[in-house]
Amino acid sequence: MTIFHYYNGMSSNGSLKKVFVETYGCQMNLADSEVVKSIMNDAGYSPTDRQNEADVIFVNTCAIRENAEARVYGRLGDFKHLKKGNPGVVVGVLGCMAERLRKDLMETESYVDLVVGPDEYRKLPALVQEAEEGHKGIAVKLSRVENYDDIVPLRTEGIAAWVSIMRGCDKFCTFCVVPFTRGRERSRTVEGVVNEVRELLSKGFKEVSLLGQNVNSYRDGESDFADLLAAVAELDPTLRVRFTTSHPQDMSDKLIETIAAHENICNYIHLPVQSGSDRILELMNRTYTADHYLRLVDKIRKTIPGLSLTTDIISGFPTETEEEHRMTLDLLRSVEYEGAFTFKYSPRENTKAWDMGDSVPEDVKLRRLNEIIELQRAVSYRKNQVEVGRVLPVLVEGESRKSVLDHRGRTDTNKMVVFRRNGEVLGDYLDIRIEKANAATLFGTPVPKN
Ligand code: 5AD
Ligand code: SF4
Repeated sequence: MTIFHYYNGMSSNGSLKKVFVETYGCQMNLADSEVVKSIMNDAGYSPTDRQNEADVIFVNTCAIRENAEARVYGRLGDFKHLKKGNPGVVVGVLGCMAERLRKDLMETESYVDLVVGPDEYRKLPALVQEAEEGHKGIAVKLSRVENYDDIVPLRTEGIAAWVSIMRGCDKFCTFCVVPFTRGRERSRTVEGVVNEVRELLSKGFKEVSLLGQNVNSYRDGESDFADLLAAVAELDPTLRVRFTTSHPQDMSDKLIETIAAHENICNYIHLPVQSGSDRILELMNRTYTADHYLRLVDKIRKTIPGLSLTTDIISGFPTETEEEHRMTLDLLRSVEYEGAFTFKYSPRENTKAWDMGDSVPEDVKLRRLNEIIELQRAVSYRKNQVEVGRVLPVLVEGESRKSVLDHRGRTDTNKMVVFRRNGEVLGDYLDIRIEKANAATLFGTPVPKN
């Protein structure tokens, strides 16, 4: 338990103060926001979902692409407006944009009181107190050791939890801002992670996703990621264990075998390839060729039958030719991913790719992106049709987004399944016969248990 010296969370009328945290970007940020809420809660600020009743508003930001930053700027406009009507509210910008834009943010956006980077969240209560006294604060140092191992994230009750196991990234892909905004790689202890998952089990969670920018380069002394994964999976055979994101370079045989050996480690790997061209992969500093990658996929599929695979693709990296773009399409055709997250290249200051210029015109980037999306949609559709007629175990996770009459859940392979609700509760496992499918979702009916 962490002891905080700052307990300033009492408003002038004596009631507890409230903090509203809005999160953008990756799952790491979602996990970080839970750490932030925990730190603030210990200092007397209870979390709220309503921005209008908040004494403190934090925006946990993402800097990965320009449009992510543009969205945050748009939202900050709303908080500027809110602050006009309620000047006492403290507005803080946290996370990757805080790290990247630092002073600029505070100078150009005068209503922002705090700018705090991802390794400085322990300072939030003190900085908020200073802001309440009228002093703006900035804390953006990156750390080689901070991993918040001792902080129990404040989660809302649920079925599935994110558990951050390592922070930062040492890969330095040339397009990526993460090594600059999140700093060097550092891992939590096996003990810290295992204890956290034990606690989640006792609260009724049914699924954990182990998170890191690069989970498979996790290390704690003699233990690597395969050891951690096995330790978590062996806590309870009914706990579903997922993890993301894996770098192809660190996908060891031991890790592949560990996934295959544990029934409750999901048969699902997110394995970003980024491009199908060796020249572009080299310019990206991805450290593998398309051929290496294809052989790795072969090996994984042979060892883990029924594996589902997704990827990330960037279209229009500097100097990418039409032929190189076609190589990416060819790779998508030969791997046949279950799904792909696709992005237009976005130049980020300070990265190596920034110095290569942004040479592919916007309309060409967009056309290539659309070709990638269309091809992948057809592949996903085809692969989902194969599921029709099968009976798949599904963990019930919530109401369907489209109808209150339906529930949704996911398969072991991370496919979304929608079905008519019939008395089951969240967290139940059901066998569902798949009756139809589109590119994104499977639809079916629970098979009665005898
Ligand atoms: N432009 C476009 N996409 C990017 N990604 C990371 N940096 C950039 C960038 N500058 C994508 C990569 C990565 C995913 C999280 O975001 O595909 O795997
Ligand atoms: Fe960025 Fe590459 Fe690290 Fe992923 S592995 S966070 S893309 S630098």
